Amino acid sequence: MAFLQNAWHMVGWTNELNDKGFLHRTIANEPILIYRLQDGTPAAIADRCAHRFVPLHLGEQVGDLIQCGYHGLCFDKAGHCVKNPVDGAPIPKAAKVKAYPVVERFGGFWIWLGDPASADEGALPDYEFLTDPKRATVQGYMLTKCNYQLAIDNLTDLTHIQFVHGEYQGSEAFPRIKNEVKQVGNTIYTYLTFPNGKVPMFYANAVSDPNKLIDLVYEVRWDPPSNAKLTVRGYEVNDREKMLFEIQSAHIVTAESEFTCHYFFCNSRDYAVNDPEADQKVRDWQRIGFVEQDKPMLEAQQRSVGSVDIMDLRPVLLGTDAGAIRVRRTLAGLLNNEIAAKETPVSATV
Ligand code: FES
Ligand SMILES: [Fe+2]
Repeated sequence: MAFLQNAWHMVGWTNELNDKGFLHRTIANEPILIYRLQDGTPAAIADRCAHRFVPLHLGEQVGDLIQCGYHGLCFDKAGHCVKNPVDGAPIPKAAKVKAYPVVERFGGFWIWLGDPASADEGALPDYEFLTDPKRATVQGYMLTKCNYQLAIDNLTDLTHIQFVHGEYQGSEAFPRIKNEVKQVGNTIYTYLTFPNGKVPMFYANAVSDPNKLIDLVYEVRWDPPSNAKLTVRGYEVNDREKMLFEIQSAHIVTAESEFTCHYFFCNSRDYAVNDPEADQKVRDWQRIGFVEQDKPMLEAQQRSVGSVDIMDLRPVLLGTDAGAIRVRRTLAGLLNNEIAAKETPVSATV
């Protein structure tokens, strides 16, 4: 399976570095090791020694080098073996591992899998709200045993919240929902509106009168390959000028393999900012909503679909699938362009 190479892939939250200062994860079938150089900047190299292929995270960091825990070869941030612990022993030219452009942004580490020369920090999806000091954030992570595109389908078709997360987010306005899709370049927005409905239980804290009727709008922004931002806004009925609340959350999905993905989530709010109880409520919701509700559904879906692409099974499509389909088409276009670029021989200059 092809994964988009020329894109930023989130590897983990910065607070996931372990006691050794390492974060190791497989991203798009490539084992990655992230650590900090002595000046604090992050480095990312393949988590697989060039000698006998043991994971480098089993070794140690020595200064700015990573020393393999098996026979002691040392690799620098460019992936080159620069030291053999045996005095005078030569270092074979092939003793190097892949190094990745890496940036630390929005509380996470992001790597670029493709050509390092084309790594463009401007192409990072915007999650600036995650580091806004005026907002409170609660983050988490779950490994999910499904193809990453199924996780993105889940986010771009939020009608599932009525059934999977009904007790928290269900609404009696569901039969009147409207959905809409907008595309700006390769960024796709889907909107799901619950008009003139009661405030769902999950948002009761965000309004002064939980019994009032509101228009509730879910906006999901998708950036390739699988980075989503969800913004939930409550409005006075029929008045988009009068916003009652806005809750933002990051749903960043990174492929681990064809049938597994890393799901990073982070909720951000602009009310009750220094309130540990409010944090705990969000944490409880993340455990229930994501870990206990979305994850089992997605994993059951993957088992049911099996090892084929879901689109090859010709799924019945509903109007509310419009966003998910647009995302899949856009991603397929980008992947095909990368494949075509690899296959096209560079023509000689005439
Ligand atoms: S496996 Fe790493 S030095 Fe031998
Ligand atoms: Fe969900």
